[in-house]
Amino acid sequence: MAVNKQQQLDVLKAKILADNVCPELASQATQLVFGVGNPDADIVFVGEAPGKNEDTQGEPFVGAAGKFLNEMLATIGLERGDIYITNIVKYRPPNNRDPLPEEKAAFLPYLQSQLDIIRPKIVVTLGRHSMNCFLPDLQISKVHGQPKRYKRQVYLPLFHPAAALYNGGMRQTLIDDFTRIPSILEKIPS
Ligand code: URA
Repeated sequence: MAVNKQQQLDVLKAKILADNVCPELASQATQLVFGVGNPDADIVFVGEAPGKNEDTQGEPFVGAAGKFLNEMLATIGLERGDIYITNIVKYRPPNNRDPLPEEKAAFLPYLQSQLDIIRPKIVVTLGRHSMNCFLPDLQISKVHGQPKRYKRQVYLPLFHPAAALYNGGMRQTLIDDFTRIPSILEKIPS
């Protein structure tokens, strides 16, 4: 019987644990926050790393930034179950510090495998850390809201909802960029 995408994702999650990725981070975190949503989604959102709420609940974007993300999804007629969402780094960095370059590098092959399984039409990167994993030379202030094709994958860099939440100008820019997602998706052939 063919192995479905969810089963492949489950195997990948078990592999991260078996490979003992970032043991320092793992030892300080409550659990691995792998990713959730529809494994057949056209859109995958990639954030930075779990925060406190995500670490407790084992799911990405469940705190204030996640609530904001849900509101923006609703404006384009989507809910969490329609998309897939994950982070680059899958353990909470202590005290919510930025993930270190070596931590991002350690998780990148697993993130790439996750995307290879899901094969979304578009990868929406949230914040500069996520964008720079895939598109290293770009500046988010210059390219946010602009789809970028790189090695057969379309990426849409957006500001991070946590950064935009309490910054009026950035917040409106993120909301405006978000509303472009449906028309960008429409132009990508299946
Ligand atoms: N910020 C992120 O980048 N990811 C989360 O899961 C939560 C907040």
